[in-house]
Amino acid sequence: MLVNAIRPSAAMSRLSSEGAFEVLARARELEAQGRHIIHLEIGEPDFDTPEHIKRAGMAAIETNHTHYTPSAGIAPLRETIAAHASRFRGISPPFGPGEVVVSPGLKPLIWNVLSALVDPGDEVVFADPAYPAYASCTSYLQAKPVPVPLLERTGFRLDLDELAAKMTDRTRVLILNSPHNPTGGVLTRADLETIAELAQRHDVTIVSDEIYSRNVYGSEFFSIAALPGMRERTVVLDGFSKAYAMTGWRLGYGIMPAHIARAVALMGQNTYSCTASFVQQAGITALDGPDAAVQAMVEEFRRRRDTIVAGLNAIPRIRCATPDGAFYVFPNVSGITPDDRRLGSYLLEEANVAALAGTYFGSAGRGYLRMSYANSLDQIRTALDRMRAALANFSD
Ligand SMILES: Cc1ncc(COP(=O)(O)O)c(C=O)c1O
Repeated sequence: MLVNAIRPSAAMSRLSSEGAFEVLARARELEAQGRHIIHLEIGEPDFDTPEHIKRAGMAAIETNHTHYTPSAGIAPLRETIAAHASRFRGISPPFGPGEVVVSPGLKPLIWNVLSALVDPGDEVVFADPAYPAYASCTSYLQAKPVPVPLLERTGFRLDLDELAAKMTDRTRVLILNSPHNPTGGVLTRADLETIAELAQRHDVTIVSDEIYSRNVYGSEFFSIAALPGMRERTVVLDGFSKAYAMTGWRLGYGIMPAHIARAVALMGQNTYSCTASFVQQAGITALDGPDAAVQAMVEEFRRRRDTIVAGLNAIPRIRCATPDGAFYVFPNVSGITPDDRRLGSYLLEEANVAALAGTYFGSAGRGYLRMSYANSLDQIRTALDRMRAALANFSD
């Protein structure tokens, strides 16, 4: 039997890979050759998970929370999430546990929610650039991705006129992501009110990816689910990875009308069965325990944001907007070259700085880089020095 007789399905050709993981792989190769690389490519907090959460996870293993759980998650965690998310977002009457689905990280939930909502041929609208899983999943489901550009001059908020023009009777889902990966942009309450009105007019479901809801540096976080009439047409997605520095634990959740929650839990039952039992226990402690560690991380991110924005703007031919959220900057490097992929690999190979090309997030990312400032101030300053020196020798 020939090994190459095994061929991948046609569906695989509709999946795309994530640039961050590819750049990380090359950076690791260079490190294996003895190079010192500064990692500004991966989107995860560099902080350790707060002590009390780690202890809760260890205690949960010791007390044998090591078995299967219901696919939607254990009842105490769903109750805690419902109460916490309602308080945090000002939702009244509060969400109930039957509206909550827990998952091993938010990413599988994005897939399961879109799988539960979207049929082949439906249109799914989201920003360009955007988190790559949205396009990958939409294409996998044989639905049609409809990109809406973000405007650098408004701090990378959605172009609402374009959005209105792209919403049609075929639009099934509009994915929002505020604060936004990769740009750090945050939609205003007025933006969300306009979007809510459009969603109601076109009878569209909103999938609101709020994983960076705790990483806000300007105004307070606001969820579209809190607007009148929106709770019943919104799926709120959030998780523990970014707020609590728990990326490797794999813990996310969604809040949605109960009949959709049941469909999404059924998808979970058919794919991962359930989320690790002891991880769910630790999640209760994260939400109910002291919040000081999260607030300290946010303050440190703010300092780093200010340092990296100022440093990038001081490099000739780079222009960098000040983002209000997440932990990314999205500098415009088109004054150096429109070829962001070439520039990204030049910086990695010549300056030992790993950053991501903007086009990894969609074609409107051309001429931009995404840099994560989830790294120490020292490393950020060194990266800026290295970039400035290397870019002086870059020719397009
Ligand atoms: C916008 C967005 N949504 C979802 C996720 C997935 O997070 P998780 O680690 O919980 O799967 C990420 C991670 O980078 C993200 O940036």
